[in-house]
Amino acid sequence: MPDSRIPVRACLVLVATCLAFVPLCAGEAQLPTRFTNLRVLPPDIAPDSLLSVMGGFTRALGVRCIHCHVAANGVRPSAEEFALDGSEAKRVARVMWQMVEAINGQHLPAIGRPVAALARVTCATCHRGIARPIPLEEVLRVTYERAGIDSTIAQYRGLRREHFGASAYDFSELPLPTLADRLAEHAARRPDAARLMRLNLEFYPASWFTYQQLAQLEAAMGDTTAAILSLERGLALNPQRAFLRELLARLKPR
Ligand code: HEC
Ligand code: HEC
Repeated sequence: MPDSRIPVRACLVLVATCLAFVPLCAGEAQLPTRFTNLRVLPPDIAPDSLLSVMGGFTRALGVRCIHCHVAANGVRPSAEEFALDGSEAKRVARVMWQMVEAINGQHLPAIGRPVAALARVTCATCHRGIARPIPLEEVLRVTYERAGIDSTIAQYRGLRREHFGASAYDFSELPLPTLADRLAEHAARRPDAARLMRLNLEFYPASWFTYQQLAQLEAAMGDTTAAILSLERGLALNPQRAFLRELLARLKPR
């Protein structure tokens, strides 16, 4: 068996490096001490400040340095490589930086409230830990158009497993009904919309609102028996909801 103990000297070097570059301790990279290709940040920015800006980027987007910085070894950029362009994400990040500066510098002050009281927009305001900040129902809709309902449902489950509890996506009871509404505009997609409502009920079994939408879909598809059952379940959860009662009265033979 190979000796897995780390030599003491390597350990000291490691500790020293970590003290110098605390946020990089995960082993991301060696930082240069002079910066040679700053076009949107102040060219004389202190290394500490630059590092905290970069740390902010990685946290806001839920990525590592290498998402924006090219690295010949494919793992971590060398000190010299950080200055290189050629990464699409780095190009976009510069545009984003200018956009955020314009929002905070011009647009927010233009709403005319005391500057000290204004909120500030940051990368995290939109990104919330993901590289492409797109609402869940839109992410799912694109998948639906490309790959159909089974892939859409699988994606919802996967994203929920991965991101639940973080602010990346809204896993409340609302996004699936929103998407189902859009699908239901086409009669042929109503069965898929109904599947999304059943998926929602798996996670929100007490959502009368989902039962209401499911019932409307079932009625539109001509399945009166199922629609009545869904309405009764919705009413059991929210007896005050007059609309459910009206729908039920319309469907139930008297
Ligand atoms: C979201 C994209 C993004 C991420 C993630 C990112 N950077 Fe950057 N980085 C940039 C951009 C854009 C610039 C250039 C800024 C400018 O033009 O003023 C830059 C510049 C730098 C520079 C200056 C290079 C030079 O000499 O001009 C260093 C060093 C650097 N980044 C280190 C890091 C480290 C370390 C990480 C990970 C903790 C990281 N970056 C993560 C986008 C990113
Ligand atoms: C007003 C909302 C908003 C803010 C604030 C914002 N972004 Fe973005 N960003 C977006 C959107 C939306 C996209 C997706 C664009 C697309 O691909 O359709 C995006 C995409 C990106 C991408 C490309 C991601 C990829 O891998 O495809 C990078 C990199 C990025 N943003 C960096 C930043 C950085 C760094 C900041 C802060 C300086 C920032 N963004 C602030 C909305 C925002």
